[in-house]
Amino acid sequence: MDLKEHIDEKKLPRHVALIMDGNGRWATQRGKERIFGHEHGVEAVRDTVKAAAEIGISHLTFFAFSTENWCRPHREVETLMDLLVQAIKNETPELHENGVRLNAIGDLESLPEKCRRSLEEAMETTASNTRLHVTVALSYSARWEIVNAAQKIARQVANRTLQPDQVDEDVFVSAMETHDIPDPDLLIRTSGELRLSNFLLWQLAYAELYFTPVFWPDFRKKHFYQAIIDYQRRERRFGKVKAEALTTKNV
Ligand code: IPE
Ligand code: IPE
Ligand code: MG
Repeated sequence: MDLKEHIDEKKLPRHVALIMDGNGRWATQRGKERIFGHEHGVEAVRDTVKAAAEIGISHLTFFAFSTENWCRPHREVETLMDLLVQAIKNETPELHENGVRLNAIGDLESLPEKCRRSLEEAMETTASNTRLHVTVALSYSARWEIVNAAQKIARQVANRTLQPDQVDEDVFVSAMETHDIPDPDLLIRTSGELRLSNFLLWQLAYAELYFTPVFWPDFRKKHFYQAIIDYQRRERRFGKVKAEALTTKNV
């Protein structure tokens, strides 16, 4: 039986975030340079987007490049940026045809000009699509995002458009990069690493975490569906008690 048939369409996560990890190790295992792994990671992104669109997930976020990744060897960073421009150019027409809206979060100002331009073009082209909202986190780190949000709020307080005691969770959420997307319900990280590496620390507060040993270049639809099935077996309580426990006897 197809894995997809085990998925309950009524219990889909609204937003799935992915930490695409293991490209370097995948390449090293094959006696190749790390960048070979990054090149093969593009296919995994394509498959994941298709998998999500097929079952009707509305939001996907990919962690593509962290603030800390700037500290990698210059050549790897440069090739990664070129690869990114290439991937955006190659993939945007098909994404657009399939109703996918592309967006980016992170310190986009720090990206090379060619990268920023191709991103802006892709975002503009796909702006009115509604089937699936794909966000790419680039030059992103959660601590950068939180500090940035705090600065925005501080400016509003300084110019008296906001009172200090009006600063609540909603104000914070609207100052975050992700202000127009719901929090992730499910986080998938590939390559067996069991950490968040500075990704969406605020937004993942109540996400279900799923770790797989599969290296990102090998990640395919079936792995995505396995993660969704695993997610659907979990009980999300958000700090409350189990729904069934709330009988008249117990309340
Ligand atoms: C993820 O793969 C891609 C990026 C972080 C850009 P890595 O490049 O981190 O691969 P490993 O973790 O070293 O194997
Ligand atoms: C996290 O992976 C960043 C991305 C996937 C873009 P890293 O490979 O940079 O994280 P660490 O160094 O293993 O924590
Ligand atoms: Mg890594």
